[in-house]
Amino acid sequence: MSFKLPTLPEVPGADPTRAVLDSFKIAIAKRVADALPPLTLEQVYQGVDYGKKGVDFTIALPRFRLPGKVDVLAKTVIDQFQADDFVESVTHDKAFLHFMLKTPSLLRAVLTQVHELTYDTSSGAPEYGTNTSGAGKKVIIEYSSPNIAKSFHVGHLRSTIIGAFLSNLYKACGWDVVSMNYLGDWGTQFGLIAVGFEKYGSDEELQKDAIKHLFDVYVNINKDAESDPGVKTAAAAWFKRMEEGDEDALKNWRVWRELSVKKYAEEYDRLNVHFDVYTGESKVGKKWQDHALERLNEMGLISDVEGAKLVDLEKWKLGKAVLRKKDGTSIYLTRDIGGAIERYEQHKFDKMIYVISSQQDLHTSQFIKVLNLMQFPWAQSIEHVNYGLVLGMSTRKGTVVFLEQIIREAASVMHDQMKKNQEKYAAVEDPEQTSLEVGLAAIKIQDMAAKRINNYTFNWDRMTSFEGDTGPYLQYAHVRLTSLTRKNPELLPLPPPAQIATETLAEHPAAREIAFLLGTYPDVVRTALRTHEPSGVVTFAFRLAHAISSAWETVVVKGEADVERARARMWLYLCARDVLGAAMRLLSIRPLERM
Ligand code: ARG
Repeated sequence: MSFKLPTLPEVPGADPTRAVLDSFKIAIAKRVADALPPLTLEQVYQGVDYGKKGVDFTIALPRFRLPGKVDVLAKTVIDQFQADDFVESVTHDKAFLHFMLKTPSLLRAVLTQVHELTYDTSSGAPEYGTNTSGAGKKVIIEYSSPNIAKSFHVGHLRSTIIGAFLSNLYKACGWDVVSMNYLGDWGTQFGLIAVGFEKYGSDEELQKDAIKHLFDVYVNINKDAESDPGVKTAAAAWFKRMEEGDEDALKNWRVWRELSVKKYAEEYDRLNVHFDVYTGESKVGKKWQDHALERLNEMGLISDVEGAKLVDLEKWKLGKAVLRKKDGTSIYLTRDIGGAIERYEQHKFDKMIYVISSQQDLHTSQFIKVLNLMQFPWAQSIEHVNYGLVLGMSTRKGTVVFLEQIIREAASVMHDQMKKNQEKYAAVEDPEQTSLEVGLAAIKIQDMAAKRINNYTFNWDRMTSFEGDTGPYLQYAHVRLTSLTRKNPELLPLPPPAQIATETLAEHPAAREIAFLLGTYPDVVRTALRTHEPSGVVTFAFRLAHAISSAWETVVVKGEADVERARARMWLYLCARDVLGAAMRLLSIRPLERM
């Protein structure tokens, strides 16, 4: 960093070159360690937490289990304390030590780092908030995984949104990420659709909208199957031919798959979601599925029930599960077992993550258990990232909400909203695209705002409002920051960081608050990697947006006569824009410049 703080000792896990608040934390830890032997710097460092309101950092002394009374210990630290460039003051409240950082250093250090890691990186891409903890490691992240010819429901949308976030997150932490879409493109239902297609299929409709048409066929033939058992038998026979590789039985299926993938790919593009690999249940070979059955059999875990093979996982409270049907055809569970093994053979991953609904917790635990029973060492590095239900978009039989409808609806709600402000609306270059982006932000934020495991109710009104913690509000906050450069051209270009009068910002608590928040962003990313929770990033984005919004009135740019001051403020806001934008991008949202 071009701005130099005094030198500090190194601490494992701290990375001041990417997270400058780490150096302030080291400075705090050093004081406490020096005052309270035999505590080491490393030990204390682990105990430096963010403080509650009005406090920068806090240390809870009891965690160190030192002999003696805590207030005596606290007093020892306070007596020996001397302010320096990092730390301004320390106070104590019973067992807690509260530290405040030196405001001018905080402002300068954080803003300089944000700037340099946004504009002066060796990769050329913005890096503020990223880290290299995953360097040299490979992760497969499987998400979305809809079923072709069935519907892409909100459950898949959640997997898509959370999975896209995780892909971005792992990349931001230096991992080599393989994002994978494991399509439900195999199974008895394709026998059913094939039978249905002979009766209800139309090539023209198929070309128009494959997913919708196949779904209609599926719904119709399902109805028939309810009254006519012959339909199911015909479907099973058809699927058996598919499994045996009968080209005639496979011909149509191939076309359906291809058209569905094409259609999905377009929608993913719109969603700002990308996959390195489109695979699917159909791609899983027989070899490992057979092998799994053999191994489990040797272990005495397989029983035969009228020709079907069952694995007994009762011992692990995971019930009994069919691994092979009596007609010899494969099944969802077995394909997941074989599929995982093939993925390891091909990618030699260090970690594999499945983003699958909590409705499939049992299924997922079962196949992960089987892989562990087969003693694959890598099976231990599989993680299931699950999530709760989306309520209020219920799928009455046949009237399913398709992904495309959701996206279109969100865009049109936002379009109507935008039109209400004629003047602004007229200034937007591409209102269609803009309303789409705002709508997508609405959907995504609603989805990621709370802990994954919580259910939530889909609420058009709430999520598309510009008030409250919504996607549109974040987009608006970003647009407002961006507009600063358009509205104050006379202040541009800003001088290099070293020549910006950041000390003038110290007059404003609101400016300090923004800088401190910006400084926490690298930690927000680290925490998200540990918890796999997007909600932490969402919360950060809103805290930042709120801090900015309360600063507008006191930390003004337009109308500030002192150019030095005006420029410093502008720089603060531009750094805030860059970090807000980075957080939004991490959440797979495309930040807008105008709306
Ligand atoms: N296609 C499945 C469904 O829609 C989800 C697949 C999840 N991934 C997996 N490896 N089982 O229910």
